[in-house]
Amino acid sequence: MSGTSMDSVDAVLVDFSGQKPELVHTHAHQIPAKLRAELVTICNPRNKYKLEDLARLDIQTGLLFAEAANTLIKQSGYRKTQIKAIGCHGQTIQHQPDYEFPFSLQIGDPNTIVEQTGITTVADFRRRDIAAGGQGAPLVPAFHADLFRSRKFDRVVLNIGGMANITILPSGSNQPVSGFDTGPGNILMDEWTRKHLKQPMDKDGAWAASGKIESVLLEKMMKEKFFSQPPPKSTGRETFNLDWLEKLIKRCRKRFIRKNVQTTLCELSARTITEAILQYAPESTEILVCGGGAHNLSLMFRIQALLGNKRLFTTEDYGLDPDWIEAMAFAWLAKQTMEEKPGNIPEVTGARHPVVLGGIYKGRC
Ligand SMILES: Nc1ncnc2c1ncn2[C@@H]1O[C@H](COP(=O)(O)OP(=O)(O)O)[C@@H](O)[C@H]1O
Ligand SMILES: [Mg+2]
Repeated sequence: MSGTSMDSVDAVLVDFSGQKPELVHTHAHQIPAKLRAELVTICNPRNKYKLEDLARLDIQTGLLFAEAANTLIKQSGYRKTQIKAIGCHGQTIQHQPDYEFPFSLQIGDPNTIVEQTGITTVADFRRRDIAAGGQGAPLVPAFHADLFRSRKFDRVVLNIGGMANITILPSGSNQPVSGFDTGPGNILMDEWTRKHLKQPMDKDGAWAASGKIESVLLEKMMKEKFFSQPPPKSTGRETFNLDWLEKLIKRCRKRFIRKNVQTTLCELSARTITEAILQYAPESTEILVCGGGAHNLSLMFRIQALLGNKRLFTTEDYGLDPDWIEAMAFAWLAKQTMEEKPGNIPEVTGARHPVVLGGIYKGRC
């Protein structure tokens, strides 16, 4: 798994033979800086690039994903013959589910992964759902439901990656699971920190904790139409990026202290996440956070404050490290595909019906 943050390629070895999925081994594989910079550039629809570059990056990221998988397996001490399959999300380059001809494009050639690892690979998870009329996202809710649905408590699983998404898990078995992207998670805070502190992230949210909220800027950002759209909905770097932020800062015609912008970005994520939960899951009593944003103490503090008496946990409190849930979800989705079971939830993505997601690229015989 490599998400919108492009912080690392997360590789996990998961054992599904027991009652609950067991995380056997993990490995965060570094993305070389030059490759990452090219991927970020190509993700911005305003940048011009050659088709040839996209095709080359498809192979390069395929090689990177294979390297991540090979390193993981080697470190785990398992033999390759013991591994049933690799599930690979790919790197999202563009996600445009609301276009006249909707699409979601992930790269990281699965043929390359199979040749480099020898292991059957499942990839291209999003496009079948889009073809069935869905957003192609979010796809993690089915796995969240499998792991965390409770008969006693109405829960929400909140995944804070580059973007943030929620999965609503009602306790009543007759109520459907739902969920959607709420907007930016860490992406804007990351980009602002990269630009001004030359750091990949605002560690623990310390910078955000040092400033004040700029309410004029916050108001302008909150007006982005994505936030008031009803679900199903999903988003990405196409909408929320540094250009978007800088354009809105300019419109405020005011000089902001950089740290105050960071505090305001943190508030934007906290506000949009909690408003989504309060509007669409008012009955929920437990919120389980996963994704890298669980480590941002400023963000977590603001989310808890805005949620009032709903109890905020991380998935760690339920025995699963928040950093690996999304990667585990794609192992689980690959398993669903191998077993010819659907991976999407139509109530979440808006698809016309459940579908078996992805393509299977057979390993060596
Ligand atoms: N200690 C930390 N303090 C603040 N933010 C963190 C910390 N650790 C991770 N993050 C945030 O989490 C992001 C990665 O989260 P992740 O769930 O991998 O997102 P994605 O799925 O988009 O790759 C980082 O880019 C960073 O913003
Ligand atoms: Mg990541």
